[in-house]
Amino acid sequence: MTQPQLWGGRFKKGLADAAKAFSYSLSFDQALLPYDIAVNKAHVLGLMKAGVLTKAEKKTLHRALDEVLDEAPAALTPLPDDEDVHGFVERMVVQKVGDLGKKMHTGKSRNDQVATDVRLYIKHHISDINDLIHTTLKALYDLAVCHKETVFPGFTHLQIAQPVVLAHHVLAYIEKFKRDQNRFVDAFERADVCPLGSAAMAGPNYGIDRLMVAGELGFSDITLNSMDAVSDRDFMFDFLYAASMITLHLSQFCEELIFWSSSVVGFIRIGDEFTTGSSIMPQKKNPDIAELIRGQAGPVVGQFMGLHEMVKGLPLTYNRDLQNDKLLLFQAVDITTSVLECFSGMIPTIDVNKDRIESAMMSGHILATELADYLSQKGVPFRDAHHVVGQMVQHADSVGKQVHELSIDELKGFSPVVELDVSDRLSFKAAIDQKQGIGSTSFLQIQERLNQLKEEFKW
Ligand code: ARG
Repeated sequence: MTQPQLWGGRFKKGLADAAKAFSYSLSFDQALLPYDIAVNKAHVLGLMKAGVLTKAEKKTLHRALDEVLDEAPAALTPLPDDEDVHGFVERMVVQKVGDLGKKMHTGKSRNDQVATDVRLYIKHHISDINDLIHTTLKALYDLAVCHKETVFPGFTHLQIAQPVVLAHHVLAYIEKFKRDQNRFVDAFERADVCPLGSAAMAGPNYGIDRLMVAGELGFSDITLNSMDAVSDRDFMFDFLYAASMITLHLSQFCEELIFWSSSVVGFIRIGDEFTTGSSIMPQKKNPDIAELIRGQAGPVVGQFMGLHEMVKGLPLTYNRDLQNDKLLLFQAVDITTSVLECFSGMIPTIDVNKDRIESAMMSGHILATELADYLSQKGVPFRDAHHVVGQMVQHADSVGKQVHELSIDELKGFSPVVELDVSDRLSFKAAIDQKQGIGSTSFLQIQERLNQLKEEFKW
C-alpha cells in the first residue's frame, strides 16, 4: 500500500516549510471533524447507490469513519502533519482499510466538502445558540415578572426622562433578543442547503443522488449551481450578522447593568458569582463579567467585516482565501456562546435596590411631562403648556424642589387652569397608568405583554 497523498503527482518538490506552516489548517479546521465524518459517510452512501462502491465497501468505510471520530482526540495530539481536516480523515481511513479508503474521494472535492461541513457546523451551533437565547429570554422574563410593579426612571440621553416600570425596561430587551432569535432562525434556513455533489466546481461525473445525500445529512434543500455552491459564503455572513446584532444588544444591556450597579447609582447589585474584586482596593465589587460582555460586540462585528474583506473581489469559484473564513466564524461562535452563557447566568443574580431607585426618581423633574399633559388636557395648547412647565421647573430648581413637589398655589401662579385634581396626576404610578396604548408602560399593558410571552413560550 502506498502512502496516501491528497495531491502531489505533478510536483517535483515538496512545499516549503514556511508555506506549509502558513497554509495548513488542521490546527483550527479540526473543529469540523464530526461534520466531515458525517459528510464522508453520506457521500460513501451516495457512491454505493450510484454503483461506485459495493455494499460491503460502504460498510467497511462507514466503520472506519466511525473509528476515526472515536480516535480523533488522541490522533490529533500532537498535531499530525496533515494539510487539513479532510486530509486527516482520509489518511486515517486509508491507514485502516487500505486502498479502499482512496476511493472515498471519488466524485467529491474538498471544495464542496468544506462548504458542506461549515453549513452543518453553523446549523449545529445555531441550535445551541437558540437554546441559550431561550434561557436568556426566560431569565429576563422572570426579572420582569418580579418587577412588574417596580417604578423606575426612564432615561433619554442618560438624563431622567419619565417614569416607567422596571419590567418595561427589561421587556424592551426581550423584544430585541426575540428579533435576534429570528435572525438566527433565518441564518439557519440559509445554511440549511446542501452543496455536496458540486465537486470541485463543475459537478461530479458520477450519478450521485444529491437529494438523497442531502437528506442523509439533515439538509432541507440542495444548491442549484455548482459554481455558486463552492464559492458561496453568504450563509456565513447571515450568521455573523445575527451574531453581531445579539452581541451588540448584550453590550447595550451590560452597559446599563454597569451603570445601574455603580456605587453612585446603586439601583442594582450583581451577584458575587458574576463580579470580581480588586487586587488593591479591598472594598471593590466590580462588574467585570458585564464589562467583558460589553467589550465583545466589537470583535464580532470585526469578524463580519473581516469576512467581507476576505470575500470581496473573489472570482468564481473556490479560492484558497476562503480557508481562513473559518477562523472568523469559529471565533464569533465562541464569543456568542460564551457571552450568552454568562449573561443568562448573571441576570438571576441581580438584586434590585428600590430605595435607591425611589431617591433617583426625586431628581430630574421626572413628572414635568405629566404636568404639561395635564395643562394641555385642560385646554392649553401643548406647546404653550410645555413652555409654562419649563418655567415651573426653573422655579422648582430655584427653591430646591421637584416640580411635582410644588404646592397647588405655586403651580396656579404659573397657570390659572391648575385645579385640585392636579395632585391625582402628579404621582409616578398615575403617570405610568396614563400610558394605556399598546406597547406603553402602563401596568396593564405590561401584564398583557407578559401574558403573551408566557403563552408564546409556554412558560
Ligand atoms: N482546507 C481548505 C479550505 O478549508 C480545503 C479546500 C480545498 N483546497 C483546495 N486547494 N482546493 O478551504
